[in-house]
Formats: sequence, C-alpha cells, structure tokens
Amino acid sequence: MKDTIRQLIQQALTRLTDDGVLPAGLTPAIQVENSKDKSHGDFASNIAMMLAKPAGLKPRELAEKLIAALPPSASISKVEIAGPGFLNFFQNSDALAQRLQRALADERLGVRKHGDLQRVVVDLSSPNLAKEMHVGHLRSTIIGDAVARVLEFLGDTVIRQNHVGDWGTQFGMLLAHLEENPASAESELADLEQFYRAAKKRFDDSEAFADRARELVVKLQAGDAECLRLWQRFNEVSLSHCQEVYERLGVRLSADDIRGESAYNDELPGVVQALRDKGLLTESDGAQCVFLDEFKNAEGNPLPVIVQKAGGGYLYATTDLAAMRYRSKVLEADRVLYFVDQRQALHFQMAFAVARRAGFVHEGTDLEHMGFGTMNGADGRPFKTRDGGTVKLIDLLDEAEQRAYALVKGKNPELPEDELRSIARAVGIGAVKYADLSKHRTSDYSFNFELMLSFEGNTAPYLLYAYTRVASVFRKLGKGFAEIDGNLALEAEQEQALAARLAQFGEVLGNVAEKGLPHLLCAYLYDLAGLFSSFYENCPILAADTPARQQSRLLLAALTGRTLRQGLELLGLETLERM
Ligand code: ARG
Repeated sequence: MKDTIRQLIQQALTRLTDDGVLPAGLTPAIQVENSKDKSHGDFASNIAMMLAKPAGLKPRELAEKLIAALPPSASISKVEIAGPGFLNFFQNSDALAQRLQRALADERLGVRKHGDLQRVVVDLSSPNLAKEMHVGHLRSTIIGDAVARVLEFLGDTVIRQNHVGDWGTQFGMLLAHLEENPASAESELADLEQFYRAAKKRFDDSEAFADRARELVVKLQAGDAECLRLWQRFNEVSLSHCQEVYERLGVRLSADDIRGESAYNDELPGVVQALRDKGLLTESDGAQCVFLDEFKNAEGNPLPVIVQKAGGGYLYATTDLAAMRYRSKVLEADRVLYFVDQRQALHFQMAFAVARRAGFVHEGTDLEHMGFGTMNGADGRPFKTRDGGTVKLIDLLDEAEQRAYALVKGKNPELPEDELRSIARAVGIGAVKYADLSKHRTSDYSFNFELMLSFEGNTAPYLLYAYTRVASVFRKLGKGFAEIDGNLALEAEQEQALAARLAQFGEVLGNVAEKGLPHLLCAYLYDLAGLFSSFYENCPILAADTPARQQSRLLLAALTGRTLRQGLELLGLETLERM
C-alpha cells in the first residue's frame, strides 16, 4: 500500500513538474507513514512540506495542487490535507477487502516473491569447537536462522554457512589430552566443557604436556595422519553437541551447512600471495600486514590487518578473506550476511575493505555485517553462571523448559503428561528465542526468565496464546482455516484496523530481509495479536447477527491465524493448537 501511494505521489509530482508548478530535476525521497490515529486516515505523507520551498508555495497550497494532480486509484477512498500540509490518505475498505480475499486464496498469503531473486550466503552460529556452545552463540544462531527463513520465503536462494572454529592452537592441548588418556577421554568428551578444563589444567601444570601440545599443533598443520584422526574424532563429538542444540532450538542447520575454518587451510598461502602480488602487503615486525588508510588508531596511524604472523602462522582474518573469496567467486553470492557479535565490527569492516581492494569478491557482491549486541544477566553484565563461568546453552534450554512446564501445569493441571511436555517445550524454547528476536539486533539486552515467560507483553507465551485463541474459534466450529466461504466486508473500525495491518505482512517481511532485523516481524505480530483481540472483543464471530457477517469475520480470523502461524514459523517458533 505504501508503495502504491508513493507511486501515486510520484505521478502527481511529474504532472506538476510538466505543468511548471515544480522546478524540473527534483528527486525527493517520498515518505509515507502509517497514521497512528485512524480518524486521520491510514497513511500520511509530508511531501508537500518538503517541496514547498523549491515550489515557492505554502505547504498547504502545494498540498492542494498535489491532491488535484493525484491520479484516481481504486485503493484510496479520499485524500485530505491536515495540519501544516500533511497529505492524509484513506484506504478504500472495499479494495482492502478484495486484497485480503486474494491473500486468503493464496498459500503465500498474498506475499509476493522478491522482484529480483538473489543468492544469499548467511554466516550463522559458527561456534568454536574447542568448547561447548554457550549463550554467546545463541544470538547468531537464532537471528541468522530467522533472517534466512524470511529470505527463503521471499524466494531467495539461501546458502547457510556454519563457519565453525575447528582450527587453531587450542587444539594442540585437546589432542594431547586425548592422546594421553584414550580410554577415559572418550567418556570425558561427553562433557566438552569439563574436557577443555581438564586439558587446560594439564597444559598449565605440566611443561612436558605443554610441549607435546605445541608439537601436536605443528604435526596437525603438517597433515600428520594420526593427529588428523584425533582431531577429527574430537570435532565429530563437538559437532554432535552442536547438532543437539540446533535440534532443541528448532534451527535449520545440519552437517551440510558446516564449512569450518579448516576448510580454507589450503587456500591461506594463496591469499597471502595474492595480496603480495597486488602490492598490498607490508612487513611489520616480521608479520605480513595490509595497512588501510581509512582505518586509524588513536594516534592517527593506519591500522593493519595482519594476515600472517612472524612465525608463519595464519590468522582469523586470513581465513575470513579466503571465505569471502569462496563465497563470492565459488558460491556466487549476491549478498553475504555475517551474523556475528557487534564486537567484531572493526574486524569485518577491515576484512571487507581488504577483500574489495584485493579483488577477492565480485563488485556486485554485498558484504554485510549483521552485528548483534550482548546478552546480559540481571546485573547488566554479560550473562554468566553464579560462579562466573560461561552458561552452557543446553543447560539454559533445559531450565527454560522446566520453568515453562511448571507454569503450564499450574494453569492447566488436568492436561495429560505428554501434552504438558510438548506445550512446555514450545513455550520454553519459544520464550528464549522470542525474547532475543524481539529486541533490536544491535542492542544489548538482559536475559530474564520471568519476563520472557510472562503471558503479558511482547512475549512468546502471549503470541502463542493469541494464536490458540484464533484456532479455538475454528475448533468450536469444527472447520479448518481454509474451509470458510463467503465475502469479506470490512464494516467495524476494529475490522478495518486489523485488515489494514494484515495487508502489511509482505512489506514487513521485505524490511526484515533487507535489514536483517527480525524484531520488526515480532513487533508486527504483537501488534496483529492486539488488533485481533480488540476485534474479537467488539465483533462477535460465531454469535454474529447474520450468516454473511459471521462468514466475513471468520475469514478475517482465518487470515489472522494463518498470518500469525506463518510469522511465528519464520521466526523459528513452534505454534500450538491449544495450551
Ligand atoms: N568462531 C567465531 C567466534 O566464535 C565466529 C565466526 C564468525 N564468522 C566468521 N566468518 N568470522 O567468535
């Protein structure tokens, strides 16, 4: 709808330019906003105020001329001037009803695919395998998954890349520990966290062990078969821990999506050589660096991206450069989205700049760091266990489900045990995911079980419950969402408000896809649930006074139910038919 209005305004501007009212050559960004107060129409634009000056007119005068020049449109019933010169557009409810009627007949709820379909690489999750996944990996995993789902829904080809940290010096100590006690090590690996701690302790306590660890890193890098075997065994176990977490979270990631740091090993010397050939390398204290003038330290000196250490070792940035080249040139990505902690912003800015300068990526490949803030505890500091350790993701999910179980059982003690369990799972896991997804990606947020499990406010329980309310209408009727005939007529104010919001689903998804911001979809669904609630309270559905009215309201409810379910699915939340 906003696009339609923008186009109408554009046509009016062209006309006024042809008529000499507006000077030629103006290319204003036409802004159209949703009106907060429906008595002022459904959409508003400030275009007359923006262009009054170049037109040499008062804003209200220009607004009048614009209205006269607007081409007629079936979707708009009237346009009014308000205040200093706003244009208020009133949506035609017949046209809106027809649009929703088409959405009802469409599996995709009337959401069109992107105009120009892209290949999008999504870098997500990407934990380091030396340790067990902890809460720090939650955000990348679920925000990346939600955005990937939305892109897929809009028709893009999404290639998920789990850039796991499966290489590096810490593996020496882990392999040394594995080698030292092959028998007990296997069982110890069940708890990776403990295994890591045990290895670290040996490393710190024993000089001989530390030497052996360093020796093993060198052997591993040289491709020693026995070392590779141990390394593979370790990674297998660690990846199976990750897979368990993905399944618990309902995140679409599998072994096929893994392309870890080690996959780029063979390309690292070539990356450095290519930089040297382009004349981009400078040696500094024996290390190979690319200095970038546009990035300066506090003293105003250019900052380096180090690609090879004095001892010959390669770095995180070198691997990322190789990965960028692979994603652009081999995977032929139009966009590469990195869902990685905001604290790595500078790393990505610099690595992107080097990759561009070196020609590692096609000009048409967009590289976008989708940074996110930190998940904090109640104290406003990064989330930790009581004794200051990192919180294992799997423990956090266990606790969420336990709390949800107690909550649901308290409300519905008579539910059978297996149903209680599955509701607790959807509510508990959904609450953790939704609490995260509903915050602006770039801000920090505090993790709070009480708030996320509340049935009030912008939470998973509230939305899951709102969906079951719609579902229960149809259960009483004994029909599915798709089994309603009849025509949609938007009479009451609450019906119109709900309908107008339903019509915006596609636009919201487009914004999520473009900006990588799932909270926009959360806010939309929350709003929709609220509008459904006022509709439900004010417009009796099953008790409507005429059959036509009942059908119309059922249609509106069906579209709301389907939109909520689709929206929650795109966020990666499991919906329930009752709870
Ligand atoms: N393994 C890294 C970490 O845990 C994240 C990797 C993100 N992706 C990338 N291409 N650098 O910090």
